[in-house]
Amino acid sequence: MQRFAQIVGVGGFLPDRIMTNQDLERLVDTSDEWIRTRTGIRERRIVAEGETTSDLAARAAEVALLRSGVAPDDVDLLLLGTTSPDHLMPSTACRTQTKLGLTCPAVDIMAACTSFIYALHHGAAAIESGRADTVLVIGAEALTRLIDFTDRTTCVLFGDGAGAVVLRAADSPGVRAIVLGADGTGSDHLIVPAGGAARPIDHDALDAHDQFLKMNGSEVFKFAVRVIPRATLEALDASGYTVDDLAWLVPHQANERIIATVEERLGIDDERVYLNLANTGNTSAASIPLALDDLYTSQRLGPGDLIALVGFGAGLTWGAAVVTWTITSPEEGA
Ligand code: UT7
Repeated sequence: MQRFAQIVGVGGFLPDRIMTNQDLERLVDTSDEWIRTRTGIRERRIVAEGETTSDLAARAAEVALLRSGVAPDDVDLLLLGTTSPDHLMPSTACRTQTKLGLTCPAVDIMAACTSFIYALHHGAAAIESGRADTVLVIGAEALTRLIDFTDRTTCVLFGDGAGAVVLRAADSPGVRAIVLGADGTGSDHLIVPAGGAARPIDHDALDAHDQFLKMNGSEVFKFAVRVIPRATLEALDASGYTVDDLAWLVPHQANERIIATVEERLGIDDERVYLNLANTGNTSAASIPLALDDLYTSQRLGPGDLIALVGFGAGLTWGAAVVTWTITSPEEGA
């Protein structure tokens, strides 16, 4: 019998501290009006002193595991998508594994903001091939630690958070098609120049703030509006569905204007396109599972709903997944 991967649990976690656009007005030459009209973002969450990506990952994963009813011992594989690992070595997945009390293999997937879709792909493939029965897939970021809070072109965009799903083997979908893409010719458009083996941090790097994220915003914008509709249509086509069949399109939450352009190109009405970036900012690898957690907890997703998840980011990378939702949201207050 054909094996499929179903999402049997979802969880999210946001750090407590809120940074508003007004807070940013006090740090750089920007305005609430500019940030809202150019991006749609009003506020974002910021990790506390000492709080790490693996802390956020573990909190989101605990919720997902609890809701799934899966015993920790039953998790066969932990995949963690991130752009802001606790350290270059060891993996953030290993640090998360131990915080969760798990003993399964654990590895990071680094495809920037597309990391969650890449991790979902690898997790579903492990289940479909019979190499695993249960996979924990996490997207987690303390990305503000890599942000230069003197650079107004980037510091207004990003926020911290984590989301997770538990995948389990089933005899019906679940995860349907997933398409992935990468184009390394665009690798300089979104980059943390120093701190890796290509350029260890030295005084020159620190003087140039090269330990922080640098971005060519307009190139990334053009890339996003090109690849998101294409990848979504490819994944829908590969699963035998069309845009009309979707209950929700869940795009990476980077910029409201990018998402509006995508809506237009796909011909999808905005009631079926999920947006929460006003309150989270761009949480990179965490944005799609955090959006799923929101949809689940607000009871806007039900069994049988067809959803498309689509991400893009540094690399450049992109990916889209078409999924049939299989879990029932809890009653309000339950
Ligand atoms: O997960 C993937 C991550 N990245 C993205 O998704 C980013 C994609 N790109 C974008 O979202 C947009 O390109 C941005 C929001 C980053 C920028 O919006 P834009 O409409 O492309 O603005 P721009 O870069 O063309 O800048 C317009 C003006 C410039 O001033 P001049 O040259 O016209 O005088 C900027 O210096 O806005 C200025 N500007 C700002 N002004 C106030 C740039 N950042 C700010 C700011 N506050 N924070």
